[in-house]
Amino acid sequence: MTTTPLIAADNLTFRYRPGNLALDGATLAIPAGTRVALVGPNGAGKSTLFLHINAILRPLAGQLSYMGRPYRYSGEFLAALRQKVGLVFQDPDTQLFAGNVLDDVIFGPMNMGLTAGEAVRRAEAALEAVGMLDQRTAPVHFLSQGQKKRVAIAGVLAMDPEALVMDEPTAGLDYPGLTSLKETLTMLHTAGKTLLVATHDIDWAWGWADLVFVLAGGRTIAAGAPADILARADHAELGFARPVLAEVAAALGERSILPAGAVPRTAGELAALLAGRKGGQ
Ligand SMILES: Nc1ncnc2c1ncn2[C@@H]1O[C@H](COP(=O)(O)OP(=O)(O)OP(=O)(O)O)[C@@H](O)[C@H]1O
Ligand SMILES: [Mg+2]
Repeated sequence: MTTTPLIAADNLTFRYRPGNLALDGATLAIPAGTRVALVGPNGAGKSTLFLHINAILRPLAGQLSYMGRPYRYSGEFLAALRQKVGLVFQDPDTQLFAGNVLDDVIFGPMNMGLTAGEAVRRAEAALEAVGMLDQRTAPVHFLSQGQKKRVAIAGVLAMDPEALVMDEPTAGLDYPGLTSLKETLTMLHTAGKTLLVATHDIDWAWGWADLVFVLAGGRTIAAGAPADILARADHAELGFARPVLAEVAAALGERSILPAGAVPRTAGELAALLAGRKGGQ
């Protein structure tokens, strides 16, 4: 028996202008509660696919569904969908529009019909989670790119959606920003949220994702567990670097220091494999 995915995109086609297909057979199936990474080269169609998942764009052909129900493009359906599926745009300037940080993050919860008090509570908790609470009165246009990115993430967190779709959330973040984002993602996963992240950070995806999709030329060209996809020897043809840990494991495998095909997902797992081998000698 197969379970119905929370979000599914089936064979989507889309073009922004004549002659150039941005999506050309994009297919995804996102099981509820999973951590999913979408990888692929620049121009692969990742952001375009995300705009379809949030129904900002509508496919020329193909279909999307949420919990098995096909997307409709009525106002009612879209409002409900966007409460359940929160999208963090690649460029925070596309997302942020209010004068100051708190007003921007409050907008979503207020729009959902929450009381002002509850909206403020949600917005402040979200800003706290991304480390921006102390800047809540700052004008948005005075923030750095990384700070804007954090506020854009807070705007989606404050709506408490079932699924969070984030377009390169790690891009441009400093070490503390990255650390708090990772903690937030862990907290969201533990709370049962479904997480779909487009990223060029293969090392991060390697340790984080349950499932990986590879997009190239608007088409899904590979899908599966990180060990089956990201460690592939033909990664360069698929358009991404192999994770450092997979490279190290492969090099140690060639020297018979690790069993061939060992795929440590963390430095700790690599150390355990090495220690186990030493112990076994
Ligand atoms: N607003 C737009 N108008 C016209 N063409 C666009 C627009 N946005 C994207 N495209 C084109 O659609 C294709 C897919 O772009 P998209 O932004 O979805 O790629 P991406 O995988 O997100 O890339 P990146 O890794 O650079 O973010 C590209 O050929 C791009 O030039
Ligand atoms: Mg993009």
